[in-house]
Amino acid sequence: MTDLHAVPARVRAGSPNPITDLDRYREHAARAAANPDGFWLEETRRRVAWRTEPTQGLASSFHDIAQGPLSWFGDGRLNITESCLDRHLATQGDKVAILWEGDEPGDCRTLTYRELHAEVCRTASALQRLGLKRGERAIIYMGMVPEAAIAMLACARLGAIHSVVFGGFSAEALRDRIRDCSAEVVITQDEGRRAGRTIPLKATTDLACTGETGVKKVLVYRRTGAPVEWTEGRDVWWHDVVPQGDAALPATECAAEDPLFILYTSGSTGRPKGVVHTCGGYITWAQYTHRTVFDLRDDDVYACVADVGWITGHTYIVYGPLANGATTLMFESTPLYPDSGRYWDLVQRHGITIFYTAPTAIRALAACGDEHVSRYDRSTLRVLGTVGEPINPEAWNWYYDVVGEGRCNIVDTWWQTETGGICLTPIAPATPTKPGSATLPMPGILPSLRTPEGRVIRGPGEGLLCIEQPWPGQARTVWGDHERFVATYFGMFPGLYFTGDGCKRDADGYYWITGRVDDVLNVSGHRMGTAEFESALVSSEAIAEAAVVGFPHPIKGQGVYAYVVLQSGQALTDDLEQTMQGVCRTRIGAHARVDRLQVVPGLPKTRSGKVMRRLLRKIAEGRGDELGDVSTLADPTVVDAIRAGAQRG
Ligand code: WTA
Repeated sequence: MTDLHAVPARVRAGSPNPITDLDRYREHAARAAANPDGFWLEETRRRVAWRTEPTQGLASSFHDIAQGPLSWFGDGRLNITESCLDRHLATQGDKVAILWEGDEPGDCRTLTYRELHAEVCRTASALQRLGLKRGERAIIYMGMVPEAAIAMLACARLGAIHSVVFGGFSAEALRDRIRDCSAEVVITQDEGRRAGRTIPLKATTDLACTGETGVKKVLVYRRTGAPVEWTEGRDVWWHDVVPQGDAALPATECAAEDPLFILYTSGSTGRPKGVVHTCGGYITWAQYTHRTVFDLRDDDVYACVADVGWITGHTYIVYGPLANGATTLMFESTPLYPDSGRYWDLVQRHGITIFYTAPTAIRALAACGDEHVSRYDRSTLRVLGTVGEPINPEAWNWYYDVVGEGRCNIVDTWWQTETGGICLTPIAPATPTKPGSATLPMPGILPSLRTPEGRVIRGPGEGLLCIEQPWPGQARTVWGDHERFVATYFGMFPGLYFTGDGCKRDADGYYWITGRVDDVLNVSGHRMGTAEFESALVSSEAIAEAAVVGFPHPIKGQGVYAYVVLQSGQALTDDLEQTMQGVCRTRIGAHARVDRLQVVPGLPKTRSGKVMRRLLRKIAEGRGDELGDVSTLADPTVVDAIRAGAQRG
């Protein structure tokens, strides 16, 4: 076995984790597989503050998914904010819950559990007075300020459903989401701050709310003090209503399967889907995985530098850490501001012990040179996590050797918006690691590799990654469209959850994710659909047709490669290129950029008119000479033209 890293002694020492070695791991995994109901009922009763403890485990199955959503802990009653806040007051009310570091180094705020509890109650009470009720939707369109987490928890306190929209999304994308879930309330801020720049969140909200949207109130937190437009009767300042709220507002009791939040994510077709997570199962999975995988200890200072606009921010900045009574960092800035030492400056100043980031950041920082790391004291670090895309062994080794000085265990955590939390991963004190492998499944996760025809691949091999059995944290449905949920995740292999990822399993049973096999792009850990780019591009009058694929990018993981057919009479000019970037920005968001653009005479299509994306992907990858048989194309000559004009880095 080459490249197998034993767990460093320091990570093992004093671990409170019940899973401290591979034998214990196997024992837990075997119990969860043999008796999921018994296993998860026991775990959830120990880990979650239920008002009425559940006696029911899983109802329904993947085979019956078309009849309706899965249910876990169906007869349990709870409000998840009592797990995240109230229960910690008696034992650790003065412990720091949220440690915030603003855009400027050293601009910090802390909220203890007592303070956070009071602020969440006040905010919930203010939202209640603004008319938000149990089951209604509130959109949260904010930057990385503590108030974003407070807003999420305040909605949850009322039993209202939040949907956080990443602050980089455009007004159009925001409007689509507001409409799709018929949100009554939008919570935003005057401006966001990031890397010394400001982001006009309120102005974008105003634009998104023009026309018929059903939004009755916009609650605005003041972050920068910049002047903003004001719609009387609709807009309300946070500081005018929250301080008067009830600091001890009782939580609304919810059913285990009440929706907790909707998070929109890109799929291979059409519009983004509103993935729905429910209260009881989600909080169980968030608490369990956060504690187990990172080997959380009472005095840890835990930092996940994602954004609350993505699922990682939901589960591993807010819900998992708070349900565990941990100190969780919220970071407003970027790894490169004011310079590429920022993360390690954070580690030194705050004594961070667990640090969780994305491969794209690791690759970008590795390229800046080791001196930005070694300048800072990282001796407090114990566990280093990565998530969002496959990590290449070079980046893994840099993280292990340079950042962690060989003393930390790396947890390469594979999961998805739809899985709610981590599914394949090392467990910090237990699992020997291999650079580039997400290693082994969490207890309760039963991966299955399949051929495209659905045949099971046993032992070592490569195939499509599916999961065989339900687990508490998985998404229940797509908001307003259960059929789409069933078709997307269970249509390919009936009775199995299909992840959309390709995966290898080696002789040790270790899993190696190879990336998406569908038309989802993963650019710097941002998940985007090729269909979203294509529809943005063809909305420009100059473009007749567009096909977008990913290509390997040394820092971003994947880059965006667009093949466009221009309307007759059009030519590619700098202006036109700007227009194309512009439509992507306005239709999707600031994070949606085309990296390579190629004008082609036509797209390669089959005789039935289907675009052969496989060919376009190969050409974008620089493997245009490995196309194989193209004789089924309606016009094989377009391929030669595309190959000849391919863009190289
Ligand atoms: C990819 C992010 C390899 C994968 C939590 C998945 C990964 C998609 C890993 C989900 C990993 C996530 N190794 N690939 N450790 N983690 N992915 O919904 O393709 O934003 O399907 O959730 O990211 O992206 P999403």
